[in-house]
Amino acid sequence: MQGFVIEGVDRLQGEITVQGSKNAALPIIAGCLLVPGEVVLKSCPALSDVYSSMKILSCLGGRCRLLGDTLTVDCTALSNDHIPDRLMRLMRSSSLYLGACVGRMGRCTLSYPGGCELGARPIDLHLLALEKMGVCFKEEHGVIECTTPKGLHGAQISLSFPSVGATENVMLAAALAKGETVIYNSAREPEIIDLARFLRACGAKITGEGTSIVRISGVSRLSPCEYEIMSDRIVAATYLCAAALAGGELMLKNTGANELRPVIDTLCEAGCDIYSFSDRVYISRKRPLKAVGTVRTMPYPGFPTDAQPLITAVLSRAKGVSVVVENIFENRFRLNPELVRMGANIKTEGRIAVIEGTAALYGARVMASDLRAGAALAAAAVSAQGITELGNIEYIDRGYERLEASLTSIGAKIKRTSI
Ligand code: UD1
Repeated sequence: MQGFVIEGVDRLQGEITVQGSKNAALPIIAGCLLVPGEVVLKSCPALSDVYSSMKILSCLGGRCRLLGDTLTVDCTALSNDHIPDRLMRLMRSSSLYLGACVGRMGRCTLSYPGGCELGARPIDLHLLALEKMGVCFKEEHGVIECTTPKGLHGAQISLSFPSVGATENVMLAAALAKGETVIYNSAREPEIIDLARFLRACGAKITGEGTSIVRISGVSRLSPCEYEIMSDRIVAATYLCAAALAGGELMLKNTGANELRPVIDTLCEAGCDIYSFSDRVYISRKRPLKAVGTVRTMPYPGFPTDAQPLITAVLSRAKGVSVVVENIFENRFRLNPELVRMGANIKTEGRIAVIEGTAALYGARVMASDLRAGAALAAAAVSAQGITELGNIEYIDRGYERLEASLTSIGAKIKRTSI
């Protein structure tokens, strides 16, 4: 098992350029399947989930090459419509190949996706929506056979919850479907906007992204393009929270404040000073942290569930009592017992955590239970007194391009090791 050994420091200082967004890159890479010809994606983060996407595309007959942060994908000649279980299990986003495969080939066989264990994470909304578009599903022994006997067609789809993945899956399927698809109660996350921009750059007809009604008019063919992936707002939130925990000053480059608004507002309420100018965000934390009003995770533009473990770590050191309510994923509180090992005072009941801030956290042996919990523990450990051994950091590698290098560049003391 890989781990980080982290020695706490009492301030961070410097600047970090924020990587390209994982959650934008994954659906865009799946979208490359719809395009015959060579697509060039810039600012593509080098992460294990991106490598998993490349494996899936290669298995379907696509050709992929990641050089630096430029991913080139050519899905001109596809040779297979079956994604084996071992590839589907690599990540949650493998579910997006449902929409992309039926969009391009009209059929596929695959199984249920894997990914971080944040709770049940069903894909019922994806399946219901695609069924309305003419996809027939036959499931046997965990393998789902997807066909479109009457062709893929547009449909009016009302999502009972603004699911990010279901919205993306429908957008991918609808780009080449016959007729118009309208998604009501669609997710409004910035990553949805990035997917729409990418598909539009390839010739798709999409309007309304970023609002709760997205319209897609199917076209007969998409063409290759060059596209720059947006920066990662959750990675940006991670560094802001690390600076809030340790204190000091940090300038983030290649990020915008708009998509980070709820995180920035909460950190300011906790006593940080944050300023933004065009694509930069600056944070300074000189005073002790103080408790904030209730933080509730909500679909965008509410407080992002991915940043909840990070803010929980920050509030564990904020004087007073703070309350965090997790409304999206029931298992996002799995870091709380690990923070408690580090001296935090957190009571967790179902979807609610009550945090009584302590002046200091202490180094301990802790485990990452998923990607963002791992990042939050790393951020907490950077500011803790003494040495923390953080295990299961393979989770962190799914979403961060060498987190330890970025944090070390601003004064943290982290070593990657086998533990
Ligand atoms: C995406 C993000 C993830 C983020 C989440 C919410 C990626 C790769 N992942 O995940 O980082 O935390 O959005 O912002 O982009 N649900 C159902 N049935 C479905 C689909 C979803 O019940 O068919 C439920 C989920 O269990 C969850 C909620 O809806 O409780 C939100 O899920 P969703 O928005 O779909 O998240 P993901 O796309 O999986």
